Amino acid sequence: MEWLERYRDLIPDFDGFRAVQSQALPSSCRINTLKIERCALLDRFAENGIDYQSFNWYPLGLKLDMESPGKLVENLSGYIHIQEELSMVPPLVLDPQPGELVLDLCASPGSKTCQISQMMKNLGRVVANEPSLARIAPLRSNCERLGVMNVAITRYDGRRFPSRPVQFDRVLVDAPCSSEGRERRGPGVLCKSSSKRSMDLHRLQADLLRNAIRLTKPGGIVVYSTCTYAPEE
Ligand SMILES: C[S@@+](CC[C@H](N)C(=O)[O-])C[C@H]1O[C@@H](n2cnc3c(N)ncnc32)[C@H](O)[C@@H]1O
Repeated sequence: MEWLERYRDLIPDFDGFRAVQSQALPSSCRINTLKIERCALLDRFAENGIDYQSFNWYPLGLKLDMESPGKLVENLSGYIHIQEELSMVPPLVLDPQPGELVLDLCASPGSKTCQISQMMKNLGRVVANEPSLARIAPLRSNCERLGVMNVAITRYDGRRFPSRPVQFDRVLVDAPCSSEGRERRGPGVLCKSSSKRSMDLHRLQADLLRNAIRLTKPGGIVVYSTCTYAPEE
């Protein structure tokens, strides 16, 4: 049985879903207002002949009709950040405010950490937690390139991030997942999927969410996001 068939009963138009999944994911970017205003960036794109289409739901999101947008000088300069459209949603739901104390429990490579800092106008503190040593470098370099100044990086297993001495105003749990929701990134994304892996991830995701709730001040906000549903069997 095809691996994603197990979602058939959950998704009303499953065949439509599969048809969309077979299309390549369009490139998109977020305008980084820590470094440039939206209108100045759009002027630059017009001058340099860069085609884009604005998202209809988020003024800082643009679809880019090109290969390798990461090589754009605007990206290298930190004026934009290449980020999938859906990945821009969780920080908006978290709605961090300037001056708050915010935890991004599963942070690398930092697309959402940097969007959170941008929303906070670099004021207050974002703790970006990432246990994988190999994934600290991309997190740090994204923060540097995008001019993010209010991030502190930690390396806890998120299940054991200590709830003392501080509790957070808001916590984002962008949980590790089986990547099934990222199938449109290309062939091979699903090759590591297995029932055992899904079960292990299910337990990890639930434990991370439980700790995130412990780490949040009374009345604070926890946002949980993942690209994949990891079912309990
Ligand atoms: C979906 S990715 C995060 C993407 C990131 N939030 C972004 O927007 O760029 C999940 C991250 O969780 C990390 N991770 C894995 N196990 C973890 C754990 N036990 N505690 C915290 N983070 C973990 C992974 O290394 C990975 O970097």
